[in-house]
Amino acid sequence: MTSRELDPGPLRERAVAALTAARERTRVLTGCVEDRELTAQHSPLMSPLVWDLAHIGNQEELWLLRAVGGQRALRPEIDSVYDAFEHPRAERPALPLLPPAEARGYVADVRERALDVLARAPLHGRPLVEAAFAFGMIAQHEQQHDETMLITHQLRRGPAALSAPEPPRAPASAAPLPSEVRVAGGPFTMGTSAEPWALDNERPAHRRFVPAFHIDTLPVGNGAYLRFVEDGGYADPRWWRPEGWAQVRRQRLAAPLFWRREGGAWVRRRFGVVEPVPLDEPVLHVSWYEADAYARWAGRRLPTEAEWEKAARHDPVTGASRRYPWGDADPGPEHANLGQRHLRPAPLGAYEEGQSPYGIRQLMGDVWEWTASDFLPYPGFRAFPYREYSEVFFGDSYKVLRGGSFAVDPVACRGTFRNWDLPVRRQIFSGFRTARDAEPA
Ligand SMILES: [Fe+2]
Repeated sequence: MTSRELDPGPLRERAVAALTAARERTRVLTGCVEDRELTAQHSPLMSPLVWDLAHIGNQEELWLLRAVGGQRALRPEIDSVYDAFEHPRAERPALPLLPPAEARGYVADVRERALDVLARAPLHGRPLVEAAFAFGMIAQHEQQHDETMLITHQLRRGPAALSAPEPPRAPASAAPLPSEVRVAGGPFTMGTSAEPWALDNERPAHRRFVPAFHIDTLPVGNGAYLRFVEDGGYADPRWWRPEGWAQVRRQRLAAPLFWRREGGAWVRRRFGVVEPVPLDEPVLHVSWYEADAYARWAGRRLPTEAEWEKAARHDPVTGASRRYPWGDADPGPEHANLGQRHLRPAPLGAYEEGQSPYGIRQLMGDVWEWTASDFLPYPGFRAFPYREYSEVFFGDSYKVLRGGSFAVDPVACRGTFRNWDLPVRRQIFSGFRTARDAEPA
């Protein structure tokens, strides 16, 4: 954001636009199926869609109406039903959930009041409202649940309910892209202290030394991953961490989630449609263990989180870190496949305008990229606005994913944005690229 936007007028407009865009997407995701499908549980890994819907409203009520607006609870009896920490997803269908019509009415009522709070609240004086932070946080929260709901749609059985235009193809470029680039050793600025809506785990900006490394110009594609599959990758314990190998055996894994062999060909199920696996698209729906095993098979490794961020943000000419690989401009449709505009990753090599100064493509959007790193706090981390946002997840249980997917809205995706998940997870929109050490120059 520029300093001009710290004027409360544009900040309020930006917050209204972010909240409105999130709600529009929520409406699509909860309006494209019959109400009975909203209350059904499509997978024990996910909540019923109607839980996500009212939970979105409940978080908005907690933060915008009560914490910012100083208002009393609208429906105190439902707080515990929609507390994600009190009830694991598998239990949520048994809770006394608001039925769809009531849930819609509740979220609309909360939104009307929240916009009223936004129109009047001072946007300075306390950290929660500084630069409209709480409003940006709630817009990001809703968009994150919109991504979660899209995962539920992917797991749902039955005919397709969603559709979207195809993403752009790679430009027919004169010279083929190099498969990897070298990033020289040295320090860079990781994280941010400047992004007004950055979350606590992205803060503060700090200098990080990264030894020289090579990193893939593109995410690993289905074609490359298929060679690992057909080389017996899932039958060879040499490539796997012990926990990953145990998962392969226990769940009889043989390919990414949603793939299956039909006759002699590999097909995949994508939002209710079965189609041939597109070989020129980034691989999707792989766990951290699968990404790690592929990298070992290929004689490479996953990039660390610091390597990923340096590859995405560091400008070797100026020495500064950019907001995004392409610069400081907010993401546009020319830069990256974001915001559920397309319901699949773009073919490898697309989005030339979104490339980093090193010429690395598709860092933002398309697929979340697993990194080698555990989810840990940066030096100087302070929990804000609550411990359960990030702090309770720090440690060696979760691996960091970077860059966002086609399912992520730009408001919840930055060069500094950190996502985390368990290394066994496969239903998320996850892929990866690989790296290797370089000799110092
Ligand atoms: Fe949530």
